[in-house]
Amino acid sequence: MENRSSFTINNLEKYFRQYRRSVRAPRKFWSEIAQNYEWMSPWEKVLEYDMNDANFSWFIGGKLNITQNALDRHISIRPDKTAILFEPNDPNEKAQAISYTELLSRVNQLANVLKKEGIQKGDRVCIYLPMIPELAISVLACARIGAIHSVVFAGFSSSAVAARIQDATCKMVITSDGGYRGNKTINLKGIIDEALISCPTIEKVLVFRRTNEPVNMVPGRDLEAAQLLEQASNHCEPTIMDAEDPLFILYTSGSTGKPKGMVHTTGGYMVYTGFTFKNVFQYQEEDIFWCTADIGWITGHSYLLYGALLNGATTVMFEGIPSYPDFGRFWEIIDKHQITHLYTAPTAIRSLAKESLSWVEKHDLSSLKVLGSVGEPINEEAWHWYDDHIGHKSCPIVDTWWQTETGGILISPLPFVTPTKPTYATLPLPGVQPALVDDKGNEIEGNRKSGNLCITFPWPSIARTIWGDHQRYKDTYFKAYPGKYFTGDGALRDEVGYYRITGRVDDIVIVSGHNLGTAPIEDAINEHPSVAESALVGFPHDVKGNALYGFIILKDEAVQTDYEQLKKEINQHVSDHIGPIAKLDKIQFVSGLPKTRSGKIMRRILRKIAEGDFSNFGDISTLLNPEIVEEIVKGVQ
Ligand code: PRX
Repeated sequence: MENRSSFTINNLEKYFRQYRRSVRAPRKFWSEIAQNYEWMSPWEKVLEYDMNDANFSWFIGGKLNITQNALDRHISIRPDKTAILFEPNDPNEKAQAISYTELLSRVNQLANVLKKEGIQKGDRVCIYLPMIPELAISVLACARIGAIHSVVFAGFSSSAVAARIQDATCKMVITSDGGYRGNKTINLKGIIDEALISCPTIEKVLVFRRTNEPVNMVPGRDLEAAQLLEQASNHCEPTIMDAEDPLFILYTSGSTGKPKGMVHTTGGYMVYTGFTFKNVFQYQEEDIFWCTADIGWITGHSYLLYGALLNGATTVMFEGIPSYPDFGRFWEIIDKHQITHLYTAPTAIRSLAKESLSWVEKHDLSSLKVLGSVGEPINEEAWHWYDDHIGHKSCPIVDTWWQTETGGILISPLPFVTPTKPTYATLPLPGVQPALVDDKGNEIEGNRKSGNLCITFPWPSIARTIWGDHQRYKDTYFKAYPGKYFTGDGALRDEVGYYRITGRVDDIVIVSGHNLGTAPIEDAINEHPSVAESALVGFPHDVKGNALYGFIILKDEAVQTDYEQLKKEINQHVSDHIGPIAKLDKIQFVSGLPKTRSGKIMRRILRKIAEGDFSNFGDISTLLNPEIVEEIVKGVQ
């Protein structure tokens, strides 16, 4: 991105100036930023929007292909530069450096295979792969030909994958025989085979090889990727996309019902992720950027992949986990690849901070320049540990607040520009207009205030809809506070206007950085034959940030059983239905749940109990069954 002056914001005065411009004249501001990319034809209008109907169009009429900007554009300037640096799970396996030229060639080959197998612009392709280069290549190959990728994190169970495939009526799955995570080998193809029993829209399954373990191949449906790639040309013209053509669907938990397929479109997403990558990380040409998130999450989509490649960066892709083969793995990787930027989640920081410092001290971390945090509030202790022991107090920490729905970072310090403050995401990025709102919907003015965090004006990478359910999109994000996008988070604004995100104010619990809706997990628990009803809440956990606490009513006939065994079974059930990440840390069997007279479970009370705070439940006299509260408390004690 050989930038015009507005693209890079490298001092605080410029930040304030650009911020003011972006609010005063957002269309002008964003059209200047967008000019840093290659468009096949220019846009006619920068923005049309309606916050009540939740309709947003950016760069209307503009034509482009995001891969042309993320790949082809770099070939003349940095053909041999490493685009993807792959670090395998096993430290004894050689790392792979894939240059921009090679990456483009492999993306094109796969794009040609997809076309040959019947994938056309607008078709949905589910990608269920471990963190191997083929995952990045598959995503980009879809984008090359205008197929809509729906990446499903390879830790999800077969029923969770099936639900996502069905919702998006995907035509193809791209997967692998298996994957490695620490000392485990996961049979991904087996999970897909099980999922596909209930997915009639899938015509083809493309299978990459990673573990080389034998897998079942269904004739006519399952294809060996390697064989097809051998015959494929490495030239593939990028498909011309409208700025508002969908680029991908990515599922995120809802506080009720099934997961929400957030739809992101091509032009705005490209403009925003490229711009924020450059500025939030103050990225420079020689830097080596490592985002530890899986591409199955939005952080992996926007910053490991698209944002990094749009800037011609070297992006590290790590297949493994921080504790394998030992707790020094992250620090070893930083040393080995001379990484300049580490972007990770507080849960990873907390889990490593718990271990001996000698794991860190063995390695030279002096290549680091910037540290990032994402996915959940970072507590003060973790912030200081990160600052002291990883950054040696000379690497600014960017605490980046955003969501799957926002596509890119909305509130964050700019390193070396914005003075940081522990636990604060600090200031909105240009174009982002936050507001704090009280429960009645009144905007809270002034500083030293807290409230529900809303955004009052669209930014280019705002999700456009929920796949197949625009009404739900409107109801979830635009109904509570008319005219505003409601984030579902609470926040406070300090004396200088810095924002601190305090956590979810709805029924979503963030466990180890994973966004989990309590309702779908309750549904899974309730399907267990011994369970009559359940209610799930989060409670604070040292490493995971939050953990899940389930209050479960058993059916009469189950009351005499082996409770410890039943707890295990229930967790296995959750793991099978959703995935191991949704397992409960605590289960309490109860005879009833506190309910309002209209039958709504009073989660506020359960949350207090789960936190171990039995002091002040407020007025419980209006409950249908106030006596149950004391009984549940006694059960804990
Ligand atoms: O509650 C906020 C929390 O993560 C939620 C979004 O989760 P997800 O869509 O999975 O995306 C995570 C990666 C962008 C938010 O509503 N969250 C995210 N970043 C932060 C955060 N909470 C506090 N501080 C953050 N930096």
